[in-house]
Amino acid sequence: SSNQMWGGRFAAGPDAIMEAINASIGFDKRMASQDIAGSRAHAAMLAAQGIVTPSDAEAMREGLLTVLSEIETGEFAFSTALEDIHMNVEARLKEVIGEPAGRLHTGRSRNDQVATDFRLWVRDQLDAAVSGLEALMRALLAQAEAGADWVMPGFTHLQTAQPVTWGHHMMAYVEMFARDLSRVRDARERMNESPLGAAALAGTSFPIDREMTAEALGFDRPMANSLDAVSDRDFALEFLSVASISAMHLSRFAEELVIWSSAQFRFVTLSDRFSTGSSIMPQKKNPDAAELIRAKVGRIFGANVALMMVMKGLPLAYSKDMQEDKEQVFDAADNWMLALAAMEGMVKDMTGNRANLEAAASAGFSTATDLADWLVRTLGLPFRDAHHVTGSLVALAEQKGCDLPDLSLEDMQSVHAAITADVFDVLGVHNSVASRTSFGGTAPVRVREQIALWKEVLG
Ligand code: ARG
Repeated sequence: SSNQMWGGRFAAGPDAIMEAINASIGFDKRMASQDIAGSRAHAAMLAAQGIVTPSDAEAMREGLLTVLSEIETGEFAFSTALEDIHMNVEARLKEVIGEPAGRLHTGRSRNDQVATDFRLWVRDQLDAAVSGLEALMRALLAQAEAGADWVMPGFTHLQTAQPVTWGHHMMAYVEMFARDLSRVRDARERMNESPLGAAALAGTSFPIDREMTAEALGFDRPMANSLDAVSDRDFALEFLSVASISAMHLSRFAEELVIWSSAQFRFVTLSDRFSTGSSIMPQKKNPDAAELIRAKVGRIFGANVALMMVMKGLPLAYSKDMQEDKEQVFDAADNWMLALAAMEGMVKDMTGNRANLEAAASAGFSTATDLADWLVRTLGLPFRDAHHVTGSLVALAEQKGCDLPDLSLEDMQSVHAAITADVFDVLGVHNSVASRTSFGGTAPVRVREQIALWKEVLG
């Protein structure tokens, strides 16, 4: 049989393969509530503008609420033959309220309808990302506060560089996730315009009120160009870009947790609740959540690239290619939210192993820079000379199989005669971190300032 929406022009219905490639209901049913919200706003506007009668608009409103509740309770029978969420809802509305349902699509197209629904859906996800990021930041702040003055090795090239504080390391991620948050807010602000009323591509000759529907749906204003409104998906791409950057941050931290929880590092103990065992090796406790977070970033980047590829060659305005936008965004959103929640859970539950962190901080000549700085400050050596003297002392310690603080004063003086015993003060890791009080530095006093600041921001 031919289609109930456009059967006028068609003698035959689609081939089964055509139906399979064409239908989006399998995934776009996730936009049901957004679709119905858009239709309700449109119906109310049509009545306010005298385009449909008040009684038709009231029938539409009630009918749409009925359809929504059928969808929410799971009674609704989705049909692949009806292609997508828009036609599924409209067809059911027809069954529920009869003739007035046919007037709902006046001055509207599925092109502005889908653009509206999808914006509303992405906007909800941006709001969910705000909560997810804030929750994670709170968990990091708690860790930072507990270990503001714990000392651990700071790395470059994953080689011991200089001692830093645990609090400082946690707060580094607070900064990163705060920038993700600000990107989310920017994206939301930019995308919050209404495509509804752009109709198929050119606007409509009906006296619609786009300001009214925009406001009813919580948009700041209607989009100014109907061709643009129905054909761009930059808001979805911006969502995916923001998600990708945030997932990259999550992935780097996940990688650190994998390393830190290993038997070779033992910097952290992850909770049982966020670990798994092995079916063969009884001793194993694996950081699977961290590994999966690290992996999820791949599919989120993939979604971003996939949608870029879909969009890059499309002439204006709508093309069916754009139906491929939703699965990418749905999958990326689901996995970003899941990764945020899993990271929050791991961070909340994990235990930083203070003694191991501190022991590791002292190893690997981590205070060599402090020694060089001491030579500059106390003996007035040019930094390059101090660097050279310190390098010789490191070589000497290495040759003796000890750390810098284990060298005797005589050892020190054999390299540079003017060195005095108070050099040993700067070789301890606690003194080292405490001395780095420059703004943004790792000293506990600076870290605590940042913690206080962020606690105030997050409330
Ligand atoms: N399911 C379609 C999509 O996701 C809805 C828009 C269809 N518009 C059209 N002209 N065929 O893009």
